[in-house]
Amino acid sequence: MSLRSADWFGAEDRNGFIHRSWMRNQGFAEDVLDGRPVIGIATTWSELTPCNAHLDEVAEAVKRGVWERGGLPLVFPTMSLGEPLMRPTTMLYRNLLAMELEELIRANPLDGVVLLSGCDKTTPGMLMAAASVDLPTIMITGGPMLSGKFQGKDIGSGTDIWRFTEEYRAGTMSAADLSEAEFCMARSKGHCMTMGTASTMAALTEALGVQLPGMSALPAVDSRRYAACQRVGRRIVDMVGEDLKISQILTRPAFENAVKVNAAIGGSTNAIVHLMALAGRAGVPLDLAEFNSLPAEIPLLVNLKPSGKYLMEDFAYAGGVPAVMKNLLGHLNGDALTVTGRSTRENVEPAECWNDDVIFPVGAPVMPAGNGTVVLYGNLAPSGAVLKLSAASPALLQHTGRALVFDRMEDYVAVADDPSMDVTPD
Ligand code: FES
Repeated sequence: MSLRSADWFGAEDRNGFIHRSWMRNQGFAEDVLDGRPVIGIATTWSELTPCNAHLDEVAEAVKRGVWERGGLPLVFPTMSLGEPLMRPTTMLYRNLLAMELEELIRANPLDGVVLLSGCDKTTPGMLMAAASVDLPTIMITGGPMLSGKFQGKDIGSGTDIWRFTEEYRAGTMSAADLSEAEFCMARSKGHCMTMGTASTMAALTEALGVQLPGMSALPAVDSRRYAACQRVGRRIVDMVGEDLKISQILTRPAFENAVKVNAAIGGSTNAIVHLMALAGRAGVPLDLAEFNSLPAEIPLLVNLKPSGKYLMEDFAYAGGVPAVMKNLLGHLNGDALTVTGRSTRENVEPAECWNDDVIFPVGAPVMPAGNGTVVLYGNLAPSGAVLKLSAASPALLQHTGRALVFDRMEDYVAVADDPSMDVTPD
């Protein structure tokens, strides 16, 4: 088959000379530009995105596999979006990342791409780009941090931060304890380790079939993650040989699987926004109302914060996404093709659940169907609003009161703590 990169490196003219000659300044041996598949490794590595700051190590592991299989790996940076630091919100930039990466892939001599993401918006943004270009593509999400450990208890990024800072404001937590908790929360490299947006989007890349089974939940520092990355490097070269493009994977059955798995894991409400944007890029019809209808029979199976008790490290050791999907196979499109070259069913059938207090069986779930993410319509949000029932306290589910509306976040923050604000208490 003729490779896309041959247009650059295979030419016998002056342009061919330039393309090859400049690449040789990196010290590649003469046979490296011999027509082998060129694999781009797009990385959102950045020290300004702490959740992705280990992706340089991930890239090295992928390169090992690409070299080993006879490809040429070339790592290139793309826009990195880190939730902890970026203002006013990374959501403003997700589409810019998607556009930037799409153009970078199109403009360069690449035959296949591996996408390295982690923090919330980097996963959907990179996938949107890849869906538009449509080359053989595998995603690697960088994995969660190890569980936080504070004063003998597990703590997770998200809810516990809110709890600590509120306790400090109320005077029930000392400044020294708050400072200690800061270190105890983030003990290793990786993204947030609750079932927040990063972990949700990572899990859904497995459900969509664009990440190798079992990779998403493995902690960022787990050596098995780097072994799996090496396998990704080998596999992407094979995918180029098979001409297996991402459009053959991001199909309507794959999106239906993702919507259902999102309900089973108690996934983030943001997944709806990102899946719809990705479906749009992939040319797959997906309607907001289908986030109510598709998972109508899917119970909550995963007992993770914020809906439940455990953290991503526990989820990985319990069997991760493949164990959940095996549990759900009766509800999923088992024939959906994945980056392994095998079907969803073939990928997840060997999976085992090693802890049924973390991953519950379908017959005895954490919560029955109908308690996941729901789409609501009403006079406050005529086009739809999203609520994660499993993470909501009962008081949030029915409330009568006046709505105080602010035009800007800053206006709200300026008065949020004012005891004289004219609001109705719970
Ligand atoms: Fe980056 Fe949560 S802040 S994953």
